[in-house]
Amino acid sequence: MRCNMNGLLEIQELTVKRGSFLLEHINFSLQENEIFSIIGKTGSGKTLLLEAIAGFYQPDQGKVLYGGTAMCEIPAFQRNIGYLYQDYSLFPHMTAFSNIAYGPKMRGVSKAEIQTGVTEIAEQLEIGHILNQYPGTLSGGEQQRVALARALIMRPSLLLLDEPFSALDPVTKRSMYDMIRKIRKDFGCSLVFVTHNFTEAESLADRIGVLIDGHLCGIVKSQDLYSAQWGREVLDFLGITEKDGRDCRDERGTL
Ligand SMILES: Nc1ncnc2c1ncn2[C@@H]1O[C@H](COP(=O)(O)OP(=O)(O)O)[C@@H](O)[C@H]1O
Ligand SMILES: [Mg+2]
Repeated sequence: MRCNMNGLLEIQELTVKRGSFLLEHINFSLQENEIFSIIGKTGSGKTLLLEAIAGFYQPDQGKVLYGGTAMCEIPAFQRNIGYLYQDYSLFPHMTAFSNIAYGPKMRGVSKAEIQTGVTEIAEQLEIGHILNQYPGTLSGGEQQRVALARALIMRPSLLLLDEPFSALDPVTKRSMYDMIRKIRKDFGCSLVFVTHNFTEAESLADRIGVLIDGHLCGIVKSQDLYSAQWGREVLDFLGITEKDGRDCRDERGTL
């Protein structure tokens, strides 16, 4: 199914039900080479939304279009997306090298090409010195770089990251922000990352969407995060005191 679209990724009226939780009428589009962040409290539906974007399951209603095709209809190995799990989910019994080499190996790439590819990507992510180590012996920041390398070696057009910085100390976080900027530039991909930390979204993303209890309350340029006309719930989440904010359920789409 191909449809008209404006961006790399189009989310149209996406609705997902899980138990009593509802992710409702989500609409946004992502441009080529954009960094987009979705911020929200724990339990607001960030992971559910990211998984729906990745096409891990069929939405209850609405669509996720990727290059004009419904994500769920694209075979997983042809999706050309990278997904970084919150806990990195590296294979614990494999070295960093083997973790990174996993995707190309599954696709039948030759040993020589894999060696060159892993060496190149490890250099870009500054992990050449830890390739023989197992995940259990790596720091959180190193594990994340390995997970990024494992995703990036497949040259995805879209990288989805679930709370990528929440387990890192402040110094490692800052170096990872720089790494993400470098990845956008060097790999030319678009990135969507979800986080409960609005400061990191503001510093890294081009645009930010705010998710409150499964409702996308609006999307703003990151420099407008604190000055936008938000409703009461978003102002509360951002820690801004204002008496007369509107309820975000009255709002739909882009602010
Ligand atoms: N399989 C499921 N069955 C029932 N409820 C679920 C399921 N998956 C997620 N939920 C609920 O959906 C809500 C959103 O979850 P999640 O997307 O993980 O939030 P976040 O990532 O923002 O912390 C939570 O209340 C969670 O308990
Ligand atoms: Mg989550």
